[in-house]
Amino acid sequence: MEEQTYIEDIGGKVGQGVLLCGWLYNRRSSGKIQFLLIRDGTGIIQGVLGEGEVPQEIFTLAAGLTQESSIKVRGTVREDPRAPGGYELTISDLELVHLAEEYPIAKKGHGVGFLMDHRHLWVRSSRQVPILRIRHEVLQAIRDFFHSRGFIATESPILTPAAVEGTTTLFEVDYFDDKAYLTQSGQLYLEATAMALGRVYWIGPTFRAERSKTRKHLTEFWMAEAEMAYYDHEDNLRLQEELVRYVVERALDRRRPELGQLERDVKLLESEVEGPFARITYAESLELLREAGREIAWGADLGAPEEEILGDHFKRPVFIEALPAEMKAFYMEPMPGNPKLVLAADLIAPEGYGELIGGSQRVTDGEVLQKKLEQFNLPREPYEWYLDLRRYGSVPHSGFGLGIERTVAWICGIKHVREAIPFPRQLYRLTP
Ligand code: 4AD
Ligand code: MG
Repeated sequence: MEEQTYIEDIGGKVGQGVLLCGWLYNRRSSGKIQFLLIRDGTGIIQGVLGEGEVPQEIFTLAAGLTQESSIKVRGTVREDPRAPGGYELTISDLELVHLAEEYPIAKKGHGVGFLMDHRHLWVRSSRQVPILRIRHEVLQAIRDFFHSRGFIATESPILTPAAVEGTTTLFEVDYFDDKAYLTQSGQLYLEATAMALGRVYWIGPTFRAERSKTRKHLTEFWMAEAEMAYYDHEDNLRLQEELVRYVVERALDRRRPELGQLERDVKLLESEVEGPFARITYAESLELLREAGREIAWGADLGAPEEEILGDHFKRPVFIEALPAEMKAFYMEPMPGNPKLVLAADLIAPEGYGELIGGSQRVTDGEVLQKKLEQFNLPREPYEWYLDLRRYGSVPHSGFGLGIERTVAWICGIKHVREAIPFPRQLYRLTP
């Protein structure tokens, strides 16, 4: 069988004959020459067909091709510095696999609603493909990071009996004669497996029934979560910083062409992860915001405008530490000597991309945890197994969750997380 060449490998095939299998992205013609833009998922290349240089039926076939028709193309690779990507294909043969019907997505002029309704086709566009390729790199980088450090990948259930991050954002589902909730975070189960395996992580879908329509919120999103026995708050922050830097540097290193296609300011991105991340306390952040003209009440969450101010101020990711216990989840370890605060931190991205990570040291002591459950008005029974972790060999431990879509949006420089996932789920979006 004749071997298929992928466009991303074309640089190694200059002067050679190749077979490309893909789709027609665009076609233009200047009479005797036709230019076919061919895409195959790994890249886009321009193919050139000259009348008289190929059999006439091939030239006529090309002239009748519609956008997104699937084709197999044979030709010779030429280096061409003017071509996007640096290479061009002189086409010698063309085979039609399927003639596409009139494609609903034109090159320009559609609103986001229309594009989202056609998300199953929109994913093919020259903007969505690099985003999804970078998303892949982010996920793979996270796996490689944890794997190379001896973490064990383990899984948490999606169907769960209880809340992790507050009861107001739970999706309830029928579960035979009972009810269940789609998980908000795999954390509680990772705490259990961390006590079995030491250091664990997972990357999984998580759900929040949040009625927010911001550019940072999805109802179904992916989280990379890690949980480490014998890690304290400081160890936790160090690991988070190393992870985020590794992921960004990996994208910069291996996904330059994609970042270029998205016109990402890579110099800016490089500078953001160059030095150590900033660290401030929640109280200091309120002070800083006050000076910038924004008054935030103690205990209130930071919103988008506040995150933008912090981003402009630090120009790199910033950890906000010493957070008020009342605004955070029940499982966080109180600050020694000041139980109004917890040993937790949020990592805020620069450029207004918002909170990338939420993490904390977890409560070690069983009695403290029971009190916290009461304070948060949570029923005891569904958390009985979780309390067991404090009865049988409890140790200080810490963990965090990194939002995949926000991380991808930041790296890609795209405004809205809905483009950072193949099929976004939002307040008013459940299709396609
Ligand atoms: O800060 P969160 O709620 O933390 C937790 O769920 C912890 N249990 C994680 C842990 O410690 N294992 O969520 C973690 C991250 C956020 O920082 C944000 O990046 C992302 O998940 N996130 C969302 N992303 C998109 N849409 C939403 N509705 C999100 N909610 C949180
Ligand atoms: Mg959070």
